[in-house]
Amino acid sequence: MTEKQRDSFRSNLGVILALVGSAIGLGNLWRFPYLVGTNGGAAFIIIYLLCIVFLCMPIMICEFVIGRRSQANTFGAFKKLAPGTAWKHTGTLAVITCVILLSFYVVVGGWTIDYFIKSVRMVFTSTTDFSAEFNKMVSSPTENVFFTVLFLLCTAGVIVAGVRNGIEKTNKYLMSALAVLIVFIMVYAMTLPGAKQGLNFLFKPDFSKVTFRTVLSALGQGFLSLSIGCGAIITYASYANRKDNLLKTTTVTTLSDTMFALIAGMAILPAVFSAGMNPSEGAGLAFISLPYIFEGMSFGRVLSIFFYFILFAAALSSSISLMETVVAFLKEEYRKSRFMAMLIMLGVTTVFAVFCALSFGVLSGFKILGFTFFDFFDYISSNICLATCALLVCLFAGWKIRKEDFYDEITSGGRYKIPKWLLGTLRVFIRYIAPVIVAIIIVNSLIGL
Ligand code: PFF
Repeated sequence: MTEKQRDSFRSNLGVILALVGSAIGLGNLWRFPYLVGTNGGAAFIIIYLLCIVFLCMPIMICEFVIGRRSQANTFGAFKKLAPGTAWKHTGTLAVITCVILLSFYVVVGGWTIDYFIKSVRMVFTSTTDFSAEFNKMVSSPTENVFFTVLFLLCTAGVIVAGVRNGIEKTNKYLMSALAVLIVFIMVYAMTLPGAKQGLNFLFKPDFSKVTFRTVLSALGQGFLSLSIGCGAIITYASYANRKDNLLKTTTVTTLSDTMFALIAGMAILPAVFSAGMNPSEGAGLAFISLPYIFEGMSFGRVLSIFFYFILFAAALSSSISLMETVVAFLKEEYRKSRFMAMLIMLGVTTVFAVFCALSFGVLSGFKILGFTFFDFFDYISSNICLATCALLVCLFAGWKIRKEDFYDEITSGGRYKIPKWLLGTLRVFIRYIAPVIVAIIIVNSLIGL
């Protein structure tokens, strides 16, 4: 396929919004607050920020270089930049990771639609037992599967409309709505009686709670949150223009994602403290603790509609990038039409996603290495596949792409001159330091299996 025939974003803003859309997701709103809650608050945040700056950003830059230089899908990119080698299978691994990740991600995406509708219909009351309500929802085969498939269809609908009319436009609207609504909820949360306690928890570090596991969780969360290690950035970068400055795009994406995670924490944790609840509730925070808290607040019902809409929008923009990565691969490597590629991806993901959805009910006794389907997919994608792909990306960019090409890709576009020492440091980091750290994470995650 020639470059002329390839899809592309209309503007640099389109690229940035799509990347931000991919990055901001359930990872920020659902996972980050409960990881902060269960890992000692501010100490976790500090470690997370260090991981983002020193590890995740450099790897993100590598993915960007690979995508934009090759102007190809995640498999085609490695094939084009290192013809005739096995490096292309880094792309294969990325595609598989997307399918695995999307399969459990859409289940939680389905819950957001379900809770959004329940909030609009005011199904919840002050006497609702939210824990029982949540368990009823996830263990009901019809309800859980129905909303999972509905969420998948929403994703597929955007994909089929194309890069400019589907992905670029949807991200533009969703991201704008998301930013306004989350700031609104945060400001409201600040006025609650327990807000100060929540903020203290978020910003006063307690390093006694930090263990090696905390560091591993922070790194894993960094990869997941920034969408590193599954080809989504490579794919979106391949739709970017050579006039766009790569360092600027990476910085804006990282800053937006991190700010959003912190704002989500500042919106959720004060509310948790004001209701006298425990922040280390875990995965149930967004679907058990928060609905309970909303019920007890003035304007809680409106806030709950906003909140589940935000969760839905964030989940949708992320799953779009996961599906697009595979669709671009099928389109370019197997010459499928966008529609056909979407149908294939939809079919495959539906099967896996249904298994994940049913693992809370009828398939709860079915275990792989002691995990249910849902937990297994979550664990291997978040803790093993993303990191393995990230390691290969690092090695590829550091050792396989020529130094001149690497620097050329980073410095092209934009008005600012990037100092040589920064480029040199980045390269040393990518060649020697990052691979060692990521390899340690992978070994530890494999031990945890
Ligand atoms: N970044 C998303 C989140 O924080 O929820 C998850 C994700 C989306 C990971 C897309 C990878 C990806 F390609």
